[in-house]
Amino acid sequence: MRVLVIGAGAREHALVLAMSHDPTVTALACAPGNAGTAAVAEQPAIADPNDAAAVVELARGWSADLVVIGPEAPLVAGVADAVRAAGIACFGPSASAARIEGSKAFAKDVMHAAGVPTARSEVVDNPARLDKALAGFGPTYVVKDDGLAAGKGVVVTEDIEAARAHALTLLDGGHPVILESFVDGPEVSLFCLVDGETVVPLLPAQDFKRVGDGGVGPNTGGMGAYAPLPWAEPGLADTIVRTIVEPTVRELAARGVPFNGLLYAGLALSSDGPQVIEFNARFGDPETEAVLALLRSPLAGVLHATATGKLAELPPLEWAEGTAVTVVLAAEGYPGTPRVGDPITGAEAEGVLHAGTRRREDGAIVSSGGRVLAVVGSGDDLDAARAQAYQRIEGVHLTGGHYRTDIAEF
Ligand code: GLY
Repeated sequence: MRVLVIGAGAREHALVLAMSHDPTVTALACAPGNAGTAAVAEQPAIADPNDAAAVVELARGWSADLVVIGPEAPLVAGVADAVRAAGIACFGPSASAARIEGSKAFAKDVMHAAGVPTARSEVVDNPARLDKALAGFGPTYVVKDDGLAAGKGVVVTEDIEAARAHALTLLDGGHPVILESFVDGPEVSLFCLVDGETVVPLLPAQDFKRVGDGGVGPNTGGMGAYAPLPWAEPGLADTIVRTIVEPTVRELAARGVPFNGLLYAGLALSSDGPQVIEFNARFGDPETEAVLALLRSPLAGVLHATATGKLAELPPLEWAEGTAVTVVLAAEGYPGTPRVGDPITGAEAEGVLHAGTRRREDGAIVSSGGRVLAVVGSGDDLDAARAQAYQRIEGVHLTGGHYRTDIAEF
């Protein structure tokens, strides 16, 4: 099987690395990729990974048997629809189904229709209505961009002025805003393979969204993660599948937009049980790096079975015992404007996955984005996995780089 992965982050590095161990894979490519994916996969040029015609042309020219779309932007832009229409198996939902991530208002509508527990919410698209709407929520205030925002569209704050300012910035930019009631409780990311009908959960994970130790500072795309959750009650994943994911998948199918790909349920375990904070239409980053470090089933076969509607025929997924931890090394300035172009040393070591990196003409690996590396450790338990991840990140150097020191610490 020739597998083409679309994307350029540590999630895509984790995907190609895992698929490089699948004996059914004869060739792997990642476009546009980064300096890390280039070590495991071909790196064919692509003008724009969000452009459906460009992806189809590449998939045809490269003779892909399976296209795996990593990020949300190409999914929302309809790239998976175009690949499937070209007769090539594709892992990733249609643009219509990807609205579960691309429009929070759509996601709320689906959840309400499906009877899925989620926070009370209100859409505001007019600044004149903002103050009255805010009065009906908080503190704590939860203000979200309705559309895609790379994990940075959400502000959770006790301060009504900060909530108001964020909402006004979004509205000024022409983005509708969602106000939500705050759901307290530990957060869980549950990734589910969905082939339109059948749902297969991966190991539950938890990510760390704030930039600073102790959960302070602004939200990011994610600064670290671990899987599975040693503190979770047995059967948590099955409960979430039964009460949340399957009803959502059925509702989407009933609307004529079956979901095919990875449905990511971001949840808070409230005292009333799991509630949805958000759905995403793709593998989460940095949780994927930890989850896939433990997967022992051949990943390309699993993704192909999902893409072709054969999940029910797949044997149960196999997982390594133990735990994996991801720690993200971010560039100076992130999650604001990151400084790019800084040389990185130690980035070719085991467990070091690349996100925002590129290889310069002189051969040096340099930073090219906000989240630069995702460093993964694994071990028999969380302490051992953490120790390995932090030992590995200490072997890496990036001027101005920063990382949280409390990932997976309790
Ligand atoms: N880890 C958060 C996300 O992938 O959206």
